[in-house]
Amino acid sequence: EEMERATLYKILDLSAKLYHHVLMNTPQGNDGKAYLARRRVNPETAQAFQLGFAPRSYDFLLSFLTKRGYATSLIEKAGLIKKNDSQGTYRDRFYGRLMFPIHDSKGRVIAFGARSFEESEQAKYLNSPETGLFHKRKQLYNLYRAKSSIRKEQNIVLAEGYMDVIMMWQEGVHTGVATLGTALSEDQVNVIKQHTKSVIICYDSDNAGQNAALKALELMRPHELMVKVAPLPIGFDPDDYIRRFGGNSFQKEMIAGAVSSISFQLERAKKDFRLQDEVERLTYIRKAVEMISDLPIAIEQDHYLRKLAEEFQISMEALKEEQRHIRFRKK
Ligand code: CTP
Ligand code: MN
Ligand code: MN
Ligand code: MN
Ligand code: MN
Repeated sequence: EEMERATLYKILDLSAKLYHHVLMNTPQGNDGKAYLARRRVNPETAQAFQLGFAPRSYDFLLSFLTKRGYATSLIEKAGLIKKNDSQGTYRDRFYGRLMFPIHDSKGRVIAFGARSFEESEQAKYLNSPETGLFHKRKQLYNLYRAKSSIRKEQNIVLAEGYMDVIMMWQEGVHTGVATLGTALSEDQVNVIKQHTKSVIICYDSDNAGQNAALKALELMRPHELMVKVAPLPIGFDPDDYIRRFGGNSFQKEMIAGAVSSISFQLERAKKDFRLQDEVERLTYIRKAVEMISDLPIAIEQDHYLRKLAEEFQISMEALKEEQRHIRFRKK
């Protein structure tokens, strides 16, 4: 058992090195290099993240590993090859894709993400399947590289994707990790808590991403965490933002400018109302008072009630009276 795990780690490590070599040092990697250049990823960054390229060959990795003496069954257990249903023969899982090795928190390669260059392809990203070494819900992409910075700076930036984390890193934000497209899990929250109490959610600013941010806030609420949300403009993810506005702006506006979770939730709730309409506006204000009343700290409640009072020109007395009604109803 233990020996088998060690061999799986070895196989994955060799594969990452091979894919990286293909990208950096062979003509087969030229498309990949050009693609990275288009996305403004520097060679040093490609090096730091051990990015690679899986050639357009059905058995490039399989034959390399077989020649090194590794059993097909173990290569399959590592998630790197797939069986052809009909013939019972094996082929590489990753074909003609940019490769993102996924390391565990100790720095061992445990899986891969793989991006197609074609936006049109149905599966933009392919990931390794769950294996004995890779449990997606327990991993955070880039935690291995980020953890010392997370400790030092006492914050973690939570993004959705590989490229978000990589571009942040390139621009000096070294505390970025990603959930890899799945919803944040309880396991991942517990991993985060081992490193810091302060989280900045930096998900894509599309509907899916913002809904995922709300879910993540809900999940983290019972934990002792200080959670903020980066105010990304609609339609941008961190990677888009950095390419468009640069790393300095990202640090100032998105990281330093992250807003409290209640501010984010209030802004989100606002979108359900047509505020020009008097009745809907008042309905929103009542809803906002209700949300603010859920805050655990009295000073916070007072602060956000005041903001609300100013924003809509309502007296504090009226808002506090409404708060009493809400409390009464809840009893
Ligand atoms: N993802 C995935 N499979 C998909 C789509 C997405 O595993 N078919 C995961 C990837 O980890 C991806 C993340 O979800 O990085 C976020 O998805 P998305 O925002 O669609 O991709 P980006 O990270 O923005 O990718 P890119 O900038 O390369 O288009
Ligand atoms: Mn599992
Ligand atoms: Mn998205
Ligand atoms: Mn994205
Ligand atoms: Mn993107």
